Amino acid sequence: MKNCSISAAFDPITQEELAWILDYRKAHGIREVVLVPLQQGIASVADRLKLLKKAVAPYRHLSVSERPLKDGIFIPEELQEGERIVRQGRYDKSARGIRKELAECGIYFETSLDALCKPRRAAHSRSVAKVCREIAEVHGMDSEQAWKAGILHDITKAWSDEQGRQLLEVYDPSRLELDAKTWHSFTAPIFLKTVMGIQDKKILQAILTHTLGDGCTDLDYLLYIADKIEPTRGYDAAYETQLAKEDLKAAFDLVFKEAEEYRERRNNG
Ligand SMILES: [Fe+2]
Ligand SMILES: [Fe+2]
Repeated sequence: MKNCSISAAFDPITQEELAWILDYRKAHGIREVVLVPLQQGIASVADRLKLLKKAVAPYRHLSVSERPLKDGIFIPEELQEGERIVRQGRYDKSARGIRKELAECGIYFETSLDALCKPRRAAHSRSVAKVCREIAEVHGMDSEQAWKAGILHDITKAWSDEQGRQLLEVYDPSRLELDAKTWHSFTAPIFLKTVMGIQDKKILQAILTHTLGDGCTDLDYLLYIADKIEPTRGYDAAYETQLAKEDLKAAFDLVFKEAEEYRERRNNG
């Protein structure tokens, strides 16, 4: 019964890799398996070590180290491909013990955003997140939570109407009566909850209400405002930005009114 180290990027470790490791240990009669992350990765080695520790916590014969043992082996490359799929938003494919952490820490939120949205939409979402964070800081709100809401708010925007319809028919059919342009704000919280494992109710509600503007918390107001005033939209929102830093509700009322007027002008013109 020897010890053995197994390396992969573990960026992050998937449930499939974990199962492979457990099978390998059994098949080769190994006493203890040490998991070692490779140097290259999206997340830092320190972050991946932290995640690995959580992933192996339930297993007595698995441990984690930065250094491989002599004669260490690698996880087959095709199996490591699964890590990319997790980074693209399928957190439900990550090792069971780290799913909650992935959904909370946001380490792969931006890789998920880039995988699920077109570049322009991703740039918009990053810009919304930045505005959310800046204004949240001014008000002493949770600025990380605000940033996350911004990054994730349009995560299902690239879906076809058919994809949206299929999900809403099951989870929230009354929304199908509304304009299909608004559907992404209803499909996003469902996707974020069921696939990415996001549980933060405040974030989910802010996203749910970001197109209709029917929210009532400071985070709801903030996301609604940031979505409309972020700089990549290309119009001068200096006044609205300043007002948002002074009085969120007043800025929300103003931006909401401006959006309504814009819609009316477009419909009439
Ligand atoms: Fe949106
Ligand atoms: Fe948006």
